[in-house]
Amino acid sequence: MTENSTHAAVVTGASTGIGEATVRQLRARGWTVYAVARRAGRLEALAAETGAVAVPTDITADDDVARLLATVEAGGGIDTLINISGGARGADTLAEAKTGDWEWMYQVNVVGTMKVTRAFLPMLRATRAGTVLNLTSVAALVSYEGGAGYNAAKAAQRAMTQALRLEEVANNLRVVEVLPGMVRTEEFSLRRLGDAGQADAVYAGVAKPLTADDVADVVAYAVTAPHHVNLDEIVIRPVAQAAAHKVVREGT
Ligand SMILES: NC(=O)c1ccc[n+]([C@@H]2O[C@H](COP(=O)([O-])OP(=O)(O)OC[C@H]3O[C@@H](n4cnc5c(N)ncnc54)[C@H](OP(=O)(O)O)[C@@H]3O)[C@@H](O)[C@H]2O)c1
Repeated sequence: MTENSTHAAVVTGASTGIGEATVRQLRARGWTVYAVARRAGRLEALAAETGAVAVPTDITADDDVARLLATVEAGGGIDTLINISGGARGADTLAEAKTGDWEWMYQVNVVGTMKVTRAFLPMLRATRAGTVLNLTSVAALVSYEGGAGYNAAKAAQRAMTQALRLEEVANNLRVVEVLPGMVRTEEFSLRRLGDAGQADAVYAGVAKPLTADDVADVVAYAVTAPHHVNLDEIVIRPVAQAAAHKVVREGT
């Protein structure tokens, strides 16, 4: 761990959105931060600006995860792993489900999160005060039409998070789950739906969807709380989204 920080984190999903905002928040608190995602250029720019360490990594690729672990070991290790990489592809009904979209969602949200977590568990256990934070979604709690693939992937990621908490409690590992509702990030809906018009429609009339910073604030709060305090499940939504099926849209 470098500088004066007593904490160091790997943050996945750091090239944009909630992950990028989380890197900024933790660097502002003086943490050593390893910024992880696939797009090296965006990570390098963030690293130059914030002093984070860019480690381009595909979290679904074993060799990449092994390289990430080696880089972090060489840098002095971490006590906190923040799994934010993830996302949705498609909004098809089950009848129209595209196998490739489902496989992508499982690979990134579930298998990728597992691979990174499995790799870092020995290091986190060794600190005797480690933290893993997984960014799932309210989509893990309530299913919606057109959401089956994302609902299933996020519910699986949530189930894995819950099992991890039980399995690692004897190692004093704190396991936090953050479940956001509607967050307006640059890429999430665009990547899910494939065009800007459909992406904009997700947020149409919603005066204040959550921002990446709103969620990153909560993530930073949870991992900087005293280690014996476990905010084990945090649901965060914009006020306008009272429930998955109840969103206030102005002008509608
Ligand atoms: N936005 C929302 O409304 C919302 C609500 C609830 C939960 N969430 C969840 O919050 C997380 C972040 O959301 P966001 O809105 O910030 O999403 P986003 O803008 O789409 O960012 C997704 C991040 O995941 C990374 N990623 C994708 N595939 C990867 C791979 N194979 N290896 C490494 N990194 C990979 C992307 O980086 P690269 O492309 O550079 O690899 C990117 O940094 C996701 O897990 C999402 O499911 C979002």
